This record gives sequence, structure tokens and C-alpha cells, in this order.
Amino acid sequence: MNNEGYIITTDKSGQPMPTQYNLATGEWVDYHPGEKKPYNCGKCHTTGYSEDGHQDGREGIVGTWALPGIQWERCHGPAADHIAAGGDPSLVEVNTSAELCGQCHIRREATEIPAKGGFIRHHEQFNELLASPHADFDCVTCHDPHKKAEFSIKLNCSPCHSSVVAAFEGSTMQKVGMKCTDCHMPAASKSAVKFGPYQGDVATHLFRINTDPTASMFTDDGAFAKDFVTLDFACLSCHKDKDINWAAERASGIHSLGK
Ligand code: HEC
Ligand code: HEC
Ligand code: HEC
Ligand code: HEC
Ligand code: HEC
Ligand code: HEC
Repeated sequence: MNNEGYIITTDKSGQPMPTQYNLATGEWVDYHPGEKKPYNCGKCHTTGYSEDGHQDGREGIVGTWALPGIQWERCHGPAADHIAAGGDPSLVEVNTSAELCGQCHIRREATEIPAKGGFIRHHEQFNELLASPHADFDCVTCHDPHKKAEFSIKLNCSPCHSSVVAAFEGSTMQKVGMKCTDCHMPAASKSAVKFGPYQGDVATHLFRINTDPTASMFTDDGAFAKDFVTLDFACLSCHKDKDINWAAERASGIHSLGK
């Protein structure tokens, strides 16, 4: 941010330039280049947020907050009584609903899945989950919310999908080390960069795969995603030299491929 609290989108002379640093690639990428971009992000990225006023008196920052980042009290509520009572666990608010996470892991209406440039946009896990076959699940059914995503999975797919697991066991795909999520949760969402035409940088939570090679994951205007993953996203990020018809001919019975 600059001293007025606006997100920097240009170089010193005001020329648009890439200003978002991507840890995954070590490269700078575009972030609304050239726009005058207020920091209106506090609702989801801070604790004790109020939309009134400007943090530290900087006009480009919309609202104020008590603590930076998402800290304990953002999810568990005020903790003064809990601490005064020597850490009494009964005085901690524990809300396990997907709606709690959906206060931030959402974009616009929960009933739609905004998309752009051939990808689902990021922070839409709640929108996606509601459109998926796991719509009745809470996020904490699968995630320990205190951990980074890759270490947070406390329940994997196996216990609930035992017949698929049995089919998969010993298959070509299983032997080369593939996981259920490689096909069912491909990076069909994009936060900062795409790594290929069907490979963004955030895993989707739609789970269901549509094997029709003529199906499109997006509405005709490209503004929204539907409620399934198509085979281009499920297969072609790895099988780069193949096309969707190749994938469609091989999709049925894929779990037990090579057995
Ligand atoms: C106040 C807003 C907010 C709430 C509520 C919230 N999150 Fe998040 N969550 C975020 C933001 C912002 C990030 C990205 C943080 C970053 O990477 O700097 C994030 C990141 C994550 C990640 C990825 C972490 C990583 O680094 O790999 C997971 C998983 C996650 N949240 C799950 C949950 C779950 C489950 C819940 C509900 C129990 C939840 N979140 C509630 C805002 C929120
Ligand atoms: C509606 C809630 C919401 C708003 C508003 C929001 N974010 Fe986020 N942001 C999230 C969540 C949730 C994540 C993590 C999940 C994801 O990226 O899909 C995230 C992830 C990010 C990441 C990636 C972090 C990482 O470690 O990969 C960046 C950077 C980011 N946000 C910046 C911003 C900026 C800058 C703004 C304001 C212009 C903003 N966000 C507004 C919810 C929000
Ligand atoms: C807690 C149990 C549970 C877990 C964990 C779980 N699922 Fe499911 N899954 C279900 C149930 C129940 C349904 C059926 C929902 C329905 O019929 O509407 C389902 C449906 C599905 C479907 C759609 C099936 C169809 O016939 O179209 C897919 C695909 C799927 N799950 C994949 C996964 C993957 C991949 C994982 C792991 C990342 C996973 N599931 C984790 C219980 C689970
Ligand atoms: C190589 C990609 C790939 C991998 C890996 C994969 N799947 Fe699938 N899965 C598919 C495709 C494609 C379909 C749709 C098949 C169809 O409609 O005939 C599917 C269908 C499903 C279905 C719904 C139909 C059914 O057979 O019940 C479930 C549930 C499912 N997969 C779960 C899983 C689980 C759990 C794993 C991990 C053990 C897994 N998948 C691994 C590609 C994959
Ligand atoms: C059926 C199980 C399941 C449910 C339910 C579920 N997730 Fe996930 N989620 C996963 C798996 C598996 C991953 C991939 C973890 C990894 O990196 O290996 C994941 C990844 C993520 C990531 C990181 C995505 C990325 O690529 O950066 C975020 C953020 C996240 N989940 C948030 C949520 C939120 C919020 C909810 C509820 C709205 C939710 N998840 C519900 C299984 C689930
Ligand atoms: C995460 C990467 C990855 C994804 C995603 C993936 N595959 Fe594969 N696939 C492999 C690897 C690795 C092999 C084994 C090496 C080989 O034979 O190329 C393989 C082998 C195969 C084979 C046997 C070899 C051949 O060329 O005939 C078929 C068929 C196949 N995959 C189809 C699919 C389909 C269909 C999908 C999507 C539903 C899919 N794969 C998704 C990595 C992937």
C-alpha cells in the first residue's frame, strides 16, 4: 500500500505495472494495473473490523480493525470472560457451521459461482461447496481450520467412498501416486496466475466430474461456473498433449484403469 492506504498498482511515475508477488512462482503479476484501488479487504482479512472510518487515518483504507489477520476472536467471539475464568473452555463460542467460514470464503451470492477468463474466481469455497454433492457438509468435516490447507485434512475421501477406493486400489493411476483430489479438485480457480489453459492456482470444491466432452463448465457469457468439473480441467493439466475427446473416451471406468 502507499502512504494514503491505496494498493500500489503502478510504478513511481504512475505507469501501470505488475505489483502482486507470487510466492509459488517467484514472479510479479498484474493486480488491477493502473487502477486507484482502495484497500477494502479488511472484512475478510482482519479481526475486529468495522466499516466506519479509515485505519491509521489513511483515506485509501476502508474501515478500521482491532487486530491484523484472522485471529482467535474473529471465529470464537470475545475472549475476555474465557481468559478471566482461567481459560474455561465452556466460555468459548464454537460455531462449526459452513456459514461461519462462508462469511469470508465466499464471493457475492452464495447461490452462484462467479467466474472470469475461463476460471472460477478465488475465495469461493462456500459457493462451490453448496453447489457440490457435499452441500450438506461443514467445512470442518474435512478441515482442521487451525492448519494450512495441505496439513488440515482430518477426513479424506476414503471412509465415505469405499467402493471407489476398492476399484482404485492397484490401478495404473493409483500406482503412479495419483490422489482422488487430482481429478476431483483440480485447480479450476485462479487467484493470481494460471499455469496452463486448464490450470489455475486454487483447488475447486465442486467434486463432481461431467464426462460429456461437449459440456462447458461455464455459462455462455463466461461470468459464472456451473456445478461440475469438465474433463479438460480434470485431465488435461497433466495430459497436456491430449484433448477432451481423448479424455472422454477413457473417463468411464477410470478408477480401475489397468486392472
Ligand atoms: C474472517 C474471514 C475468514 C473466516 C471466518 C474463515 N477464513 Fe479461512 N481464510 C481466510 C483468508 C483471508 C485466508 C487466506 C489467508 C492467507 O493465505 O493469507 C484463509 C485461508 C484458509 C485456508 C487455507 C490456508 C492455507 O494457508 O493453506 C483454509 C483451509 C481455510 N481458510 C479454511 C477455513 C475454514 C474451515 C473456516 C471456518 C471454520 C474459515 N477458513 C473461516 C479468511 C477466513
Ligand atoms: C469476501 C472476503 C474477502 C475479501 C473482501 C478479500 N479477500 Fe482476499 N482472500 C479471502 C479468502 C477466503 C482467501 C483464501 C481462499 C482463496 O484464495 O480462495 C483470500 C486470499 C487472498 C490472497 C492470497 C493469499 C495467499 O496466501 O495465497 C491475497 C493476496 C488476498 N486475498 C488479498 C486480498 C486483497 C488485496 C483484498 C482487497 C482488495 C481482498 N483479498 C479481499 C477473502 C477475501
Ligand atoms: C463424510 C463422508 C464423505 C467424504 C469425506 C467425502 N464424500 Fe464424496 N460424497 C459423500 C456423499 C454422502 C455423497 C452423495 C451425495 C448425493 O448423492 O447427493 C458424495 C458424493 C460425491 C461425488 C458425486 C457422486 C456422484 O454420483 O455424482 C463425488 C465425485 C465425490 N463425492 C467425491 C469425493 C471426493 C473426491 C472426496 C475427498 C476429497 C469426498 N468425496 C469426500 C460423502 C463423502
Ligand atoms: C484419474 C482421475 C480420477 C481419479 C484419480 C479419481 N477419480 Fe473419481 N471419477 C473420475 C471420473 C472421470 C469420474 C466420472 C466417471 C463416470 O461418470 O463414468 C469419477 C467418478 C467418481 C464418483 C462418482 C461415480 C462413482 O463411481 O461412484 C465418485 C464418488 C468418485 N469418482 C470418487 C473418487 C475417489 C474417492 C477417488 C480416490 C480414491 C477418485 N474418485 C479418484 C476421475 C477420477
Ligand atoms: C469433502 C471434504 C472437504 C470439504 C467439505 C471442504 N474441503 Fe476444503 N479442501 C479439501 C481438500 C481435500 C483440499 C485440498 C488440500 C490439499 O492441499 O491437499 C481442500 C482445500 C481447501 C483450501 C485450499 C485451496 C487451495 O488450493 O489453495 C481452502 C481455502 C479450503 N479447502 C477451504 C474450505 C472451506 C472454506 C470449506 C467450506 C465452505 C471447505 N474447504 C470444505 C476438502 C474439503
Ligand atoms: C495429476 C496428473 C494426472 C491427472 C489429473 C490425470 N492423469 Fe492420467 N495419467 C497420469 C500419469 C502420471 C499416468 C501414467 C503415465 C502415463 O502412462 O502417461 C497416467 C495415465 C493415464 C492413462 C493410461 C496411459 C495412456 O496414455 O493411455 C489414461 C488412459 C489416463 N491417464 C487418462 C486420464 C483421464 C481420463 C484423466 C481425467 C479424468 C486423467 N488421466 C487425469 C497423470 C494424470
